[in-house]
Parts: sequence; C-alpha cells; structure tokens
Amino acid sequence: MIQNNDEFPQIVGLRYLNHAAVAPWPRRAARAVSAFAEQNVGIGARDYPQWLTVERSLRQRLARLLNAPTSADVALVKNTSEALSFVAFGLDWKSGDRIVISDEEFPSNRVVWEALRPQGVEVIQVSLKGSDPEADLLAACGPRVRLMSISAVQYASGMRLDLQRLGEGCEQRGVLLCIDAIQQLGALPFDVQSNRCAFAMADGHKWMLGPEGLGVFYCRGDLRDRLTLHEYGWHMLEHAGDYDRTDWEPARSARRFECGSPNLLGTMALEASLSLLEEVGMEQVASALAERIDWLRQGLEGLNGIEMLSPAERERRSGILTFRLAGWDNAALFERLKAEQVVCALRGGGIRFSPHFYTEERVIDETLAQLRAIAGH
Ligand SMILES: Cc1ncc(COP(=O)(O)O)c(C=O)c1O
Repeated sequence: MIQNNDEFPQIVGLRYLNHAAVAPWPRRAARAVSAFAEQNVGIGARDYPQWLTVERSLRQRLARLLNAPTSADVALVKNTSEALSFVAFGLDWKSGDRIVISDEEFPSNRVVWEALRPQGVEVIQVSLKGSDPEADLLAACGPRVRLMSISAVQYASGMRLDLQRLGEGCEQRGVLLCIDAIQQLGALPFDVQSNRCAFAMADGHKWMLGPEGLGVFYCRGDLRDRLTLHEYGWHMLEHAGDYDRTDWEPARSARRFECGSPNLLGTMALEASLSLLEEVGMEQVASALAERIDWLRQGLEGLNGIEMLSPAERERRSGILTFRLAGWDNAALFERLKAEQVVCALRGGGIRFSPHFYTEERVIDETLAQLRAIAGH
C-alpha cells in the first residue's frame, strides 16, 4: 500500500477526511503540473503533440476506470454539472415526459432536470428511506418516464445504490439510466457496462484525486447521435485541425462534446492522479477504504450520543460516513473539529467524514480521540 508520506505528504497534524468534497492531490500530480508550468515558461507549446499523448492516456485511464467499451465513449468535460446539462438539453423531450430522481440528490442532479419544466417535463422525486430503495425507484418508472438520473452514492448519507439492479430494471422498462458517479468513481469499482447505463459523469476533484475543473462524461455509443449538441467549435469536429476545410461534421467519438481548446493543465494533474489509482488497483483502493470506514464507524459507535446517518449494511456503504452528536449543534461541532485540524464537511444534517484508501491510522485515531474528548469521555 502507498505510504502517506510518499504521495500524500500532508502537513503534520492535519486530519483530512474530506475526499467527498475536494481531495488533496498526490505528489505526482503536483510534479506533473510543475513540469508543465516549467515547460510553458521555457518553450511554450513547442512540444504540444507530447501534451496530446498525455491527454490520450487520460482518456484511456478514464475509459478503464469506467469499464467503457472504448475511449471514444468518453469526453473530457468541465464538471459533472456540464455533463448532466449535455444530457438534459440534448435529449428530445415531449410535453408530459417524466424523469425519476431521488429526493436526496445533490443540487446538480436535480436542478438540471427541473430546468426542463418549461418544456412540459415533470420530475418525480422518490424517497430513498424505504426498505428497498431500488424497488421504489423502479416502481416510479411508469409509462411516461424516459429517464432515471441517480447518484451512485448519495453525497450526504453516503448511501450506495445497487446500480446493476437499477440498470436492468430501467432497461426492461425502456428507461435511460443516467448516473452521477462523482461519489463513487475513484473510491469504489464502477462499471458502465454491468450497470447498463446510458450516461455517467464525474468530476475529477473528489475520489479521483485530481484538480477541480476537469471531469468525465460517458455517453453510450449508440446514444451519441441522440444528444443534440449546443456547443460548437473547432475541436469537436471530425476533422479537427484541418483548418482549411469548410465542410464539417461533429466528431463521431465523444469528442463532439468538447467544443474548443482542452484543459491541458488539468489533464496533466488528473492523468498523474489516475496513474496512482491504477497502480494501486480499484479493488485494493475499495478494500482499503472500507477498512478505514469500518474503523471510523466502530470508533464513532463507541461514543455516547452518536447517531449514525449513513447506512450500516455493508452493500450500502461507501467512502462517506455521516453522523450527529447529541447535545451538539452540527455547525458548532464542525467548527470545533476544524479548530482541531479535522477537515470534514457539514452535510445532510450532520458531520460528514470521507477518508480515502491512503488515510493513515494516525488520522483516524486522532480524530476519534478528539471526538471522545468533545463527547466528554
Ligand atoms: C453527487 C454530486 N454531484 C455533483 C457534484 C458537483 O458537481 P460538479 O462536478 O459539477 O461540481 C457533487 C459535489 O459535491 C456531488 O456530491
């Protein structure tokens, strides 16, 4: 397992439990960005073709992480919200069409669908609080439902859904499945083919350990033509780079969703970060993360007045653990933890912890010790 001080030399005393928000970079991402900066200073873009090989490598790494059939199914986008917007404003809606989401979605995966209201599209929000949330989501897929859009892992509770079951159920009902994968990709294995999803998207700055502003959009090959494009430019053309040509068509690959110059600065960092995840392997990453979540959970459960807001069942667990402490206002507890160098988040009516596979024992033990002191043990 990668040592914290090799790739994650975070400052002494820092307890970083906030990968579900914005992750620290591994050392190799910082090195790649520094090298890119130095190159820009020294020789500008003289070796641009070399940069494009890094971009190609990033696409291939993302395709492998998603288990996409080919990297031609993968577009590099600004963020999750942009990719969701490509789907929402790309499909051809008819008045009366319906979309199923859950009632716990991050705003990006709600607002974009509600924005279709002027076109007569209705959004159905399904509660995930029942004993069988997948059955409840599928039961909401009546005849007018054309799409289900769901987070693989809910951002506040950390609840993980059975995507394969949702994918099969959606396929049987002729419903397109769109997965906001930002809280799963890079933390747990993810597979667009076994999930049978139509679309999946994620930004790189959480579990993929990259910078903000560069994400991935997977669009199933046979659906590419069904999304009307709303952004045009030189880069999204089939014959990009042939500047003298006057006839044009959108790229046959998912590059059609990338209208202009690429974010090569972000590419350098994300490609390096993903190389680390690939070296460790997603099965290893997921099991190391599960160990850390277990450990945190056990420690928290030993405290008086703890109420866990994240599901306990193993198949529902993710990299997110959210809780409340009796007698403590969440905001006050958050501030207190912050003062103790515990970096976490205030989400879903509680405190959200999100370690990653490399999180050191020390970080978890010290955080639990702080909480024990706060809880008056
Ligand atoms: C489930 C979910 N979707 C989307 C986002 C953010 O999307 P974007 O990549 O557009 O910033 C977050 C960020 O917290 C999230 O938790």
